[in-house]
Amino acid sequence: MGKNYSWGLLGAGHIANKFAAGLQELPSAKRYAVAARSLDRAEAFGAAHGFEKAYGSYEAMLADPQVDIVYISTTNNLHFEHAMMCLEAGKAVLCEKPFASDLKQVEKMVAKAQEKQVFLMEALWSRFLPSMIQFKSQAKENAIGRPLLLQCNFGFISPFDPQKRIYNPALGGGSVPDIGIYPIFTAMYLFGRPTEISVTSTPTPTGTDWTTAILFKHKEKEISMLTSSFEANLDNEARLYGDRGYLKLHTMFHMPTKLSVNRNNGWEEEIPVFSTGNGYSYEAAEVMDCLDSGLIESPALPHAFSLELMEVLNEVSRKAEESYR
Ligand SMILES: NC(=O)c1ccc[n+]([C@@H]2O[C@H](COP(=O)([O-])OP(=O)(O)OC[C@H]3O[C@@H](n4cnc5c(N)ncnc54)[C@H](OP(=O)(O)O)[C@@H]3O)[C@@H](O)[C@H]2O)c1
Repeated sequence: MGKNYSWGLLGAGHIANKFAAGLQELPSAKRYAVAARSLDRAEAFGAAHGFEKAYGSYEAMLADPQVDIVYISTTNNLHFEHAMMCLEAGKAVLCEKPFASDLKQVEKMVAKAQEKQVFLMEALWSRFLPSMIQFKSQAKENAIGRPLLLQCNFGFISPFDPQKRIYNPALGGGSVPDIGIYPIFTAMYLFGRPTEISVTSTPTPTGTDWTTAILFKHKEKEISMLTSSFEANLDNEARLYGDRGYLKLHTMFHMPTKLSVNRNNGWEEEIPVFSTGNGYSYEAAEVMDCLDSGLIESPALPHAFSLELMEVLNEVSRKAEESYR
């Protein structure tokens, strides 16, 4: 039986609410502290989710010796700064995706985790969902023959507003860093790092990417066709086609969801997957399991994967921008 851990939430926004609800599933996770830029916000959040302490600054929470693990859910542009602050303070870190803004930042974060011997993991929650894990293991167990092609789309309509986080370049906005990361992650989880990358995209008036289409070729010649968009409601499925059928993660593929297989016989058969809660407990449980084992990185989502993912994300974003010209 593992020990109990006191969690501190850095940022009290939209996704922090869902994460806090997920923590309630885990008896060994103590909902201890929350910090926001304003004390009022932190207090309201803490009261709503049963946290013991509320802090009106991130620094004040990091000075609290009782905080064991910090979940960072600030805007994309701030992940690096906040992860470095936490690691420097000796706190284990679970940091929202995208891990940082560029590869250099992720390298510095990993180096700091190693120097301080402190745990660090990207909060790519989909990696730990039973449906996503089954998707890959069914493919490995030959459910559809040789995997050939992944089609994976993530898109929804979010009316343009330059003030919104997702449309604001200064806050790290864009459909690729915000939601395209999930199809990209899925492709890399299944097939590894792409060997070829092609991208075409359309820009928003603020210059962030709006709708982006990505093509990868992988080592064993598998192909991934991925899309992300903030201007169309896409099917939000992941389909993995093999030479003997396909596996499908139903909409929304990146959340706890249904898994089906079609064995080239005309119908889809559901593969039962057990999952509990809103899905955010799985990544939190992984952090605590790793700490129980004295690890500074997760074997399931190692630093090397996050480094590669950042590199690929940056390349996709760079090629998206090139395609505007
Ligand atoms: N895992 C998932 O399913 C999932 C889903 C959505 C988003 N995300 C990720 O989670 C992170 C937060 O997303 P969100 O939708 O929760 O965002 P959000 O609610 O707009 O903002 C999150 C926090 O960032 C801080 N913040 C907001 N605007 C800021 C500004 N202009 N300048 C400085 N700080 C600002 C605030 O911290 P204070 O509370 O301290 O004021 C806010 O609570 C992003 O990195 C996103 O990619 C993950």
